[in-house]
Parts: sequence; structure tokens; C-alpha cells
Amino acid sequence: MNSIEIKNLSFTYGKKKVLSDINISINNALYGLLGKNGAGKTTLMKLIVGLLPIKTGQIQVCGQSNPKEIRRLVGYLPQDFDFYPEMKVKDSLIYLGTLDNLKRFELNQRVEMLLDLVNLNQDRNKKVKSLSGGMKRRLGIAQSLLNDPKVLVVDEPTAGLDPEERIRFRNLLGDLATEKIVLFSTHIASDLESTATKLGILDSGHFIYDGSVEDLLNQYSGGIYETLVNRKDLSRFKEEYLVFEQKELANGIMVSFIHTGRPLDQFKRISPSLESAYLMKIHERRD
Ligand SMILES: Nc1ncnc2c1ncn2[C@@H]1O[C@H](COP(=O)(O)OP(=O)(O)OP(=O)(O)O)[C@@H](O)[C@H]1O
Ligand SMILES: [Mg+2]
Repeated sequence: MNSIEIKNLSFTYGKKKVLSDINISINNALYGLLGKNGAGKTTLMKLIVGLLPIKTGQIQVCGQSNPKEIRRLVGYLPQDFDFYPEMKVKDSLIYLGTLDNLKRFELNQRVEMLLDLVNLNQDRNKKVKSLSGGMKRRLGIAQSLLNDPKVLVVDEPTAGLDPEERIRFRNLLGDLATEKIVLFSTHIASDLESTATKLGILDSGHFIYDGSVEDLLNQYSGGIYETLVNRKDLSRFKEEYLVFEQKELANGIMVSFIHTGRPLDQFKRISPSLESAYLMKIHERRD
């Protein structure tokens, strides 16, 4: 069965500890890895795909622990990646596939299939430098699928994309997750709301949640409220409560916020979004 098993994994850059005793088991479709800048997402992904050496702990991908074997099983879309700007879309894939030692005939077929899959067939003869950020990201996914991996690791693929392209990209990852494990990192919780079956929250190198989206939302079904605040009182209100959303209305500002004590009469309880549940989880740890 396709799986990623991580046991007692810690990692340091020099003396700086960036991952602390991580234990997770991923064996279902799309697993979202949520965490703020510097939380350790990229480091964890590089360890999984074998680009950083494991110093403490173990990682197994589909039962394999040898980094060379693992590299054969995974596809990886790095957070910072680039193609040769002057090369055309299709040629880039052929070039990278050749480096991957794919046979010419098989490679041609695979590239045609991937261009269709990521919806770049029409753009096959465009130079990479003329692609938009979203198109480049889709080309990146095609590249990561060249060797038909069992596990796909994508690092913040939605950063900087417009809403339409983000939805398109999420759907693509969702489709891929019907037959592969897709590990998808982001710092935008809503990216995972409709697609991820499970998610993990990484905070300063610690896994503070590993479970279903639904369970996380249920944990906080009692602590999220909204209320109308006068503009002049807003900054005072924000000092007292953790406000995560505000909307300008004609008669004041509607704020959504986290509150764990007894609610005031004017506070209206609302269902948590994944974003608010995520903030509460992080907030809880800081308290
Ligand atoms: N090569 C490196 N040498 C030293 N420290 C590093 C190195 N790479 C990352 N770090 C540090 O490790 C921590 C985790 O970084 P990492 O890039 O894994 O976080 P991230 O969750 O991917 O962040 P982002 O959302 O910004 O991509 C950060 O404190 C970062 O400064
Ligand atoms: Mg990163």
C-alpha cells in the first residue's frame, strides 16, 4: 500500500532545531501540511523525498527507507523551482524526462498525457519565460509526474496564484490523489478545506495536529463568534480578542474572533472555518 511513515524524526540545521520528534503515518489520498513561514514544512518535505539526510529518526515511503529507492517512488515539486526560460513547454518535459532515463517512445506518450492532464496542451510551444505563475506551477506538476510516482510531494504550490488558478490547481491535486498519496504544504488553510481528507499542522517544528479536517473543526465548534464593533473600539477589541476576520458594514465592523470564556450577549456563535480552527490550535499552544 502507498504510505509515508515517519518515526521519531528530528532535524537540526547546525545547532538550530527545526523539527522535533515527529511521528506521523500518511496513507490516505490528500494530506495537507499546514504551517506558518519557518514552521519546517520544506525541511520535512526535503527529508521525505531524500534531499536532506536523516540524522535522527526514520522515514519509510511505501515500505522503503533507502533514499535511492525512495527517489524512484516520489515526485517532488519544490517551493522554489525554475525551468530554462528559453525552452518550450513540451521540450522542457522531454528534456527532464530524458534526464530521468525514460525511453523515447514511452516518454513521448507520457508527455502528451501530462500536457493534457495539467491543461497545457494548447501552450506546448510557448517558451517557459512567457508562462504565468499558475501555468509554470502546472508545468512543475507535470514534471513531478514524469516517472509516474506513487507519492507526490508538492511544496506550497498555490502561493502567489490568483483564486481561479488556485481552485484549478487544488482540483488537479485532488484528482491525482485518487491514485497517489499527495502531500501538499500551504500556509493558507482554505486551500485544504475542500480537498484534504487529513491534515497536519506544523508549528515551530512540532506537529500540533494530525487528523481529519472534520475533527479539527469539531474541536472548535464552541469558540468562534462574531459581533459588530464600532470603528473607534476596534483596536481595543483586537487587544482583548484574537480577531481573524473583519468586514466593513454601514453600521460598524463585523468581526469574527476567538473566545474561550463565557460569551457576552452580543456575541453570536458561528461555525469555525478551517482558518479559524487552525489559528485556535496555534493560539492554544502559545497560551
Ligand atoms: N539551509 C538552512 N540553514 C539554516 N537554517 C535553515 C535552512 N533552511 C531553513 N532553515 C530554517 O529552518 C526553519 C524551517 O524552515 P523551512 O524552510 O523548513 O520552513 P517552511 O515551513 O517551509 O517555511 P515557508 O513557509 O517560509 O516556506 C526556519 O527557521 C528556517 O530559517
Ligand atoms: Mg517552505
